[in-house]
Amino acid sequence: TRRPLMAGNWKMNLNHLEANLLVQKLAASLTEKQLTEVETVVLPPFTDLRTVQTAVDGDKLLIGYGGQDLSPHAAGAYTGDISGAMLAKLGCTYVVVGHSERRAYHHEDDGVVNAKVKAALTHGLTPILCVGEGLDIREQGTHVAHCSDQLDGGLAGLTPEQVRQVVIAYEPVWAIGTGKTATPEDAQEVCGAVRQRLAKRLDQETADAVRVLYGGSVKASNVASIMAQPDVDGGLVGGASLDAEEFAQICRFP
Ligand code: 13P
Repeated sequence: TRRPLMAGNWKMNLNHLEANLLVQKLAASLTEKQLTEVETVVLPPFTDLRTVQTAVDGDKLLIGYGGQDLSPHAAGAYTGDISGAMLAKLGCTYVVVGHSERRAYHHEDDGVVNAKVKAALTHGLTPILCVGEGLDIREQGTHVAHCSDQLDGGLAGLTPEQVRQVVIAYEPVWAIGTGKTATPEDAQEVCGAVRQRLAKRLDQETADAVRVLYGGSVKASNVASIMAQPDVDGGLVGGASLDAEEFAQICRFP
C-alpha cells in the first residue's frame, strides 16, 4: 500500500521568519499519529531551507522538506543554481522537478527535466516529477498522451528500481492557482493513465509502488473527493499550503 503524501509547494513565498512560524504552526496542528499516517512535506524557497531544517531537527518534527528545483550539474560555474548535494546536506529528502512554472518561465524541456531527475537520485533525493497539460491541449483532448510523453521524457534511461524512488505529480496547468480544480474524475483519468504507462514501460510492481499526486487548486474543501480516487496518492498543494491551518486540514483528510 502506498502511504499518502501531502507536499506544500510554497513557490516564491515566505521569508525565513515566516517559514519558521508556518512550520511550527503546522507541527502544532497535527498529531504524531496524523503525521505518521499521512506523510507531510514542505517545499520552501532555498533561502528558507536552513531555517526549516533547524525547526524540524530542533524539535524532532515529523515533517519532511525539500527544494523546488535543483541543478542537473554536480558543481561548478553555474551562477544562481543550487546542486542536489547542497540540498541533501541540508537534510532535504525531496525536490520538485519539472514544475510547469519552471518549464514555462525557465524553458525547461524534457531533456533538462530528465537530467534533473537523475541528479536528484544521484544525491539520494526523491524527485517529485511534475507533468501536466495546458488548456489548449486539454481542449484538444490529447492530455493523456501529452502527460505520458512528459512522463517518458522525464524518466528516460531510469531502471525500474530508480523509478520506484520517484514521485509523480499530475498538475494540469489550467488548474494551478486559478481556483479551477480538476474534477476528481479528471485527476483520476490522468493519474490512472500515468500508472498504466509505468506498467507498460516498466512492470506492474513498479507501477503499483510509485506514488502519483494531484496538484492544482487543492483545498481543505476538495481534498477528500480527490483522495478518494484509486490512483491519487496525495497532493502537491500551492496556495493552500501557505496557511498552516488549511494545510493541516488538508493533511488530515482521512
Ligand atoms: P495551487 O495549489 O496554488 O493551484 O498550485 C498548485 C501547484 O502548482 C503546486 O505545485
